[in-house]
Amino acid sequence: MKTIIEPFRIKVVEPIRMTTREERLEHLKRARYNVFKLRSEDVLLDLLTDSGTSAMSAQQWAGVMAGDESYAGSPSFYRFERAVKEIFGFEQVIPTHQGRAAERILFSTMCGPGQVVPNNTHFDTTRANCEAAGARAVDLPIQEGLIPASLHPFKGNMDVPGLEALVAEVGAQAIPVCMLTVTNNTGGGQPVSMANIRAVSEVSRRNGIPLYIDACRFAENAYFIKLREEGYQERSVREIVREMFSYADGCTMSAKKDGLANIGGFLATNDARLAQQERDLLILTEGFPTYGGMSGRDLEAIAVGLEEVLHEDYLEYRLASVRYLGEHIAREGVPIVQPPGGHAVYIDAAAFLPHVPPRQLPGQSLVAELYVEGGIRGVEVGTVMFGREDPSTGEEETAAMELVRLAMPRRVYTQSHVDFMVEAIVEVYRRRDRIGGFEFSYQAPVLRHFTAEFKPLYVVGGG
Ligand SMILES: Cc1ncc(COP(=O)(O)O)c(C=O)c1O
Repeated sequence: MKTIIEPFRIKVVEPIRMTTREERLEHLKRARYNVFKLRSEDVLLDLLTDSGTSAMSAQQWAGVMAGDESYAGSPSFYRFERAVKEIFGFEQVIPTHQGRAAERILFSTMCGPGQVVPNNTHFDTTRANCEAAGARAVDLPIQEGLIPASLHPFKGNMDVPGLEALVAEVGAQAIPVCMLTVTNNTGGGQPVSMANIRAVSEVSRRNGIPLYIDACRFAENAYFIKLREEGYQERSVREIVREMFSYADGCTMSAKKDGLANIGGFLATNDARLAQQERDLLILTEGFPTYGGMSGRDLEAIAVGLEEVLHEDYLEYRLASVRYLGEHIAREGVPIVQPPGGHAVYIDAAAFLPHVPPRQLPGQSLVAELYVEGGIRGVEVGTVMFGREDPSTGEEETAAMELVRLAMPRRVYTQSHVDFMVEAIVEVYRRRDRIGGFEFSYQAPVLRHFTAEFKPLYVVGGG
C-alpha cells in the first residue's frame, strides 16, 4: 500500500474549541502579539512545540497507574533506569524534571568562565545554561545547514574542520565538553549522520574532550540514518541508536520529545565520579537521585515511551506526517527548509516575506498571520529567539536565519488536521505582499521570546 497510516487507533479524544478569525485577532492583540501568551484553548492546531505534547499510549497510562511514589528506591525508578541503560548504553542515569535541568547540572559541573562549548547548533536552553555557567556557546553547523533551500541528507551535521579549527584556536583545555544535538532542532530539525557523529567523536577523543549528545530526538535521528545512510538499511533502529551513543561520553535528554512523555528528562554518563558530583547538585534543586524532580508515574511513562518510540512503524508514520505537511506547502511555492525535518517543518520567513527586513522580525509576522488565518500556533526561530539588542547602540543583531517552526506533536493530529494546516499556510502565502513587520515593545534580558511583547508595523490579518 502507498498510504502510510497512523499506526494507532484513537481511544480518548480531546475536543478542539473552534474560534473565528475576529476572535483570534482579539486574542492575539491581548497577548501583545506573542503566541506564547495565548491560552491554548484559543488555539485550533497547536504546533508551538513537539515538547511534552505527545499523546500517551494505553501502555503508558497503565504505567502511570503502576507508578510507585516512594521518595527513595522506587521500582518505577529502576524500570526507568533499566530502559535508559539498555537503549543508550550509559551506566550512570540521573533523572531530571526536563532537559534543561540536565543541561544546567551538566554545565555547572563541567564548565566555567572563559571556557568554550561547541555544538552543531545549541538549542536555546542549552545555550542559555552554558552561558549561565560562564562558558561561551559556539555553533558549528555545516555550511549547507545554513542554507534553507539546500538539499543535503544530513543538514544537522557538525562542521568537523570547524571543530578542529576551534580546538586549535582556543586549545583543548578550554573546551570542557563538546555537544552534538540530534536531530538539530534549531538548524531545522535536521538529522546528523553516523559518519558525522563518529568524526566528531574522533576529534573530541583525540583532544581529550568529552562528547555529549543532546538526545531529545534520538529515535527520529536514528530512523533518518536507517533511511538515508549507506550501510544502515538492514540495521534495526535500536542497533543504530546503540551505535550513535557508543561514540559519546554521555547525553542530556528531554523525555518530552522522543520519550513520548509529557514531562521528564535525564542526564547520563559512564563517568561515576562526575555522576556523583551531578547527583549532589541534583539533590540541591531537583530531588533525590531516584526521582530527580519527577513522580514515579512519570518515570513509568518514560520507561514505556522510550521503548515505543523505537517501533519502526511509528517512526515511519512520524517522518511521513511531517514530510506530508512540508511537501504539500512547498508544492504551492511556500519556501521551507529542505528537506523537511523529523519533528517539524520550518518555513523560511525571510524568503516568504522578502520585503520585511530581519530587524522587523518577519518570522514574528508569519507566526501572527498563521494564528489569525487558521488558529495555528507556530514559533519564531529567528531574530526574536536568537538575535540580541546591542546594549551600547540599541541596534538589533539579527539571527543567521529567519525561520518559523511548525512542530508536530507526536500521535496527536490526523491527516485532515494537516490538510487544514496546508490550506491556511497557503492562504497566508497568497496575501504575503500585504504583510509587514513587527518591533519589540518589551523584551527580557534572557530567553526573551517567551515573554516579549510586540507592536505591529502594519495591519495584522490582511488589512
Ligand atoms: C534540542 C533540544 N535540547 C534541549 C531542549 C530542552 O528540553 P526541555 O524543554 O525539556 O527543558 C529542547 C526542548 O525543546 C530541545 O529541543
